[in-house]
Amino acid sequence: MGKQAVYRHMEPIRLIPPCLGCHGQPKGAPDMLGYEKDGLEAGDVIGLMSVTIAVSD
Ligand code: HEC
Repeated sequence: MGKQAVYRHMEPIRLIPPCLGCHGQPKGAPDMLGYEKDGLEAGDVIGLMSVTIAVSD
């Protein structure tokens, strides 16, 4: 990042069965909070976790 050396770790956030009540099928149907479901399945990538830590020489 510029002249600062960093260690950056990224990994995908995948859905597991307990997530599907809100992020699952059918797409557009209301979930328990009143948001629209996403129509996704277990194993699908829904996000990305990124952690950046400054390192020195
Ligand atoms: C009780 C309902 C509910 C459950 C269960 C749930 N979520 Fe969510 N999730 C939401 C809502 C509501 C949002 C915000 C949606 C929006 O902003 O439009 C959200 C947003 C997200 C986001 C951000 C998506 C974005 O586009 O910014 C991620 C990542 C996420 N959820 C992952 C998960 C994962 C992984 C699980 C299971 C371990 C899970 N969620 C279970 C309701 C839920």
